[in-house]
Formats: sequence, C-alpha cells, structure tokens
Amino acid sequence: MEERGKFIALEGIDGSGKSSQVKALTHKMKEAGLPVYPTFEPTAGPVGSLIRNIFSGRIEADQRTIAGLFVADRLDHLLNKTDGIIQKINSGCHVLTDRYFFSSLAYQGAHVDMDWVIQANSQSVKLLRPNLHIFLDLKPEKSIERLKSDRRSTDMYEKLETLQKVRQNFFTAFEKMPGENVVIIDGARPFEEVSLAIWEEVSRLF
Ligand code: TMP
Repeated sequence: MEERGKFIALEGIDGSGKSSQVKALTHKMKEAGLPVYPTFEPTAGPVGSLIRNIFSGRIEADQRTIAGLFVADRLDHLLNKTDGIIQKINSGCHVLTDRYFFSSLAYQGAHVDMDWVIQANSQSVKLLRPNLHIFLDLKPEKSIERLKSDRRSTDMYEKLETLQKVRQNFFTAFEKMPGENVVIIDGARPFEEVSLAIWEEVSRLF
C-alpha cells in the first residue's frame, strides 16, 4: 500500500506573510521530489465562495452563521470527492493548507465562545489532524503596515484591535488544544530566513 501523505497547515494573522510562504514551501517540496498539493481556506468551493461573499459585504450574516459556514467549508475541504484533502493524503500526496481550524478558533473565537468553535470543529479533528501546524507569528502593528503597503482592500478583519485579539486567540487556542503539533515561527525576520525555518520544521516530517 502506498504511504499516506503528510498534512501541514500554515496559520497566522492577516499580513503575516503566510500565503507567500505557502508558495515558497510548495516550491521547495517539489524541488525535493515530494508530491505536494497546496490549498487554502476559505476554499474555492461553494461554501468558501459564500463566505467570501459575506466578507466582501455582498451577503449579510451573523457571526454564529459564519462560524458554522467555516465548519461546513472545512468538512467539504476534507471530504469532497473531487479534490478533498483526505483523498489526496490517502493517495500519498502531501497537502499544504493556507489556514485550517486554528484560524476558526482565533477569528471566530473573537466573536463567539471559543469552546463552542472547538466543539463545532470536532468532526474535522476526528477525520484528519494535521501532522504539523506552523504559526507565523507577527505583531499586528507590523502586519497592518505590510497590508497597507501591499494591497488592495482592507476587509472586516484587518483592523488593529481585531488582529490583536486574533493573535491573542491563536495563543489561547494552542493552549486549549495541547495535543496538536504546533510550531511557532517568528515571521518578522527576512522572507528567506522565515522560509528556511519553515523548511527545517517540515523536512523533519520526512
Ligand atoms: P486569507 O486572507 O488567508 O485568504 O483569509 C481570509 C480571511 O478569512 C482572513 O481574514 C481570516 C478569515 N478566516 C476566518 O475567519 N476563519 C477561518 O476559519 C478561516 C480559515 C479564515
């Protein structure tokens, strides 16, 4: 039987550099001859699209509804028959996701009870847990600076106070889920240094 792939999640507040690091890590893994499938949440699937429509203000929804939608989007991300994570992992492909359930604990946990969010995500946790969660840590003051210099629109989560709360929530969430393999990497360093630190952690899995 083919060996199962590894499942790696990258987490961080908005502007932490996580998406660029996912790209760099995908490149490094391919260079090392490792089959890799990069993906992200909210997904490009139907539930993820609905979430993006809510975030852009096209559709109105309560925070509890949003938390529920993230749960559904994650289950679809894991289980769908076309390109679901479980299918990829079972076929021996390594999966790299830009955000996973710790994002729900941190972001939705800023609006609804975090323990409820943990409970609501328990199906996903039962189905498949990441072999590694990498948290790219960056102070919100710094991430906001990056977001301003770098981008497009500011969405509803990009306010300083919210990001401070979200960052704090990530640390609270790590404490609440001590069984998860979480590595915290200082995201304030130069891109290549961060990239190397991530690669060091990831290559331990192989
Ligand atoms: P992105 O900027 O990484 O594409 O993520 C889009 C937004 O979605 C980001 O502000 C964080 C938010 N988000 C949640 O609120 N809960 C979640 O569970 C996930 C995966 C993302």
